Amino acid sequence: MTGFFDSLALPLLQSLDAERAHQLTVLALEKLPLPGACADHDLLGQNVFGLDFPNPIGMAAGFDKDARVPDALLRLGFGFTEVGTLTPRPQPGNPKPRLFRLRDDRGVVNRFGFNNGGHEAARERLLARARHGGVVGVNIGANKDSTDRAADYVAGIEAFADVASYFTVNVSSPNTPGLRDLQQAAALDDLLARVLDARDALAATEPRRPVLLKIAPDVALGDLDDIVRVARTRGVDGMIVSNTTISRPDSLRDLSRRETGGLSGAPLFALSTRMLAQTFVRVDRQFPLIGVGGVDSPEAAWAKIEAGATLVQLYSALVFEGLGLIERIKAGLIDHLRARKLRQIGPAVGSAAQDWL
Ligand code: FNR
Repeated sequence: MTGFFDSLALPLLQSLDAERAHQLTVLALEKLPLPGACADHDLLGQNVFGLDFPNPIGMAAGFDKDARVPDALLRLGFGFTEVGTLTPRPQPGNPKPRLFRLRDDRGVVNRFGFNNGGHEAARERLLARARHGGVVGVNIGANKDSTDRAADYVAGIEAFADVASYFTVNVSSPNTPGLRDLQQAAALDDLLARVLDARDALAATEPRRPVLLKIAPDVALGDLDDIVRVARTRGVDGMIVSNTTISRPDSLRDLSRRETGGLSGAPLFALSTRMLAQTFVRVDRQFPLIGVGGVDSPEAAWAKIEAGATLVQLYSALVFEGLGLIERIKAGLIDHLRARKLRQIGPAVGSAAQDWL
């Protein structure tokens, strides 16, 4: 199925406008029957945040913003998927065009601005598939015109408490003006206090859902000290490093580099992996990390693990590599584990963090 998709559909999709190609891909995943996923090798399984992950490769937030295809993504071989970012009220996002392929650089620039159908519609879909199981995280954010942003995140916790395997508090998208200011220590402390209070208040009726914090790769190391201190003090369950970057590496050649928005894909790999390692040494194993940014091969996924990631997510590379990438990465990770005579991923996590500092 993925072979069919990659050899026939990928060239077609690559010739379309980027947002149109994305919409068609989601539609195809929604409508086409997919065979069930093959069971993953035991070497790849882990229990993290109290959840069972059959393999460490997840679909990053932004692909399935409205929770239309979590089960299709799990069937394609992802070990978990993250829907969203979802805001309380539906919002259209920024004017089109707002998604650009940097073909020469194997990168993507987007300035979607949290286009999504809002909590209610996504909740209905997640409720309808809840019995299927699997790890499906919900990434929550704030409406662009919100007057109390922290209240929007609290509303996200309350809306999805019974259907989210975990929550991601997204304070790092560059396309909602001012959102990233929530990464500043005082604002972050207030936000996490309210979000975690809301989560704990629901624990009487719902299982306790892990809350992860997703950060930008562009924070200064002094600010990262503050972020990790606040995250540890408030007791988040994990962090995701990282979102897209507003920086533009000198190596970029494609003219779309000039578009405003967040850059992802291969040109984000080094920056996000360095930030992952910097986060890993500050967290001191108090909680696990998810590494994301530019993963496009088994080697890149293994590098994330050695830099400090217990789990790995990806999105942009699928645009260039196709869906076969997921199985290639998983097979490559098994090779890496066997070559080191490891029986699980855990002992490799962070083993090369110092090299990235
Ligand atoms: C994203 N990403 C993203 N992240 C998030 O937390 N909420 C979101 O709504 C989105 N939306 C989004 C749209 C598009 C088109 C892209 C390419 C990315 C960021 C994504 O989850 C991830 O952190 C980065 O893209 C880095 O990973 P890759 O793409 O380099 O593997």
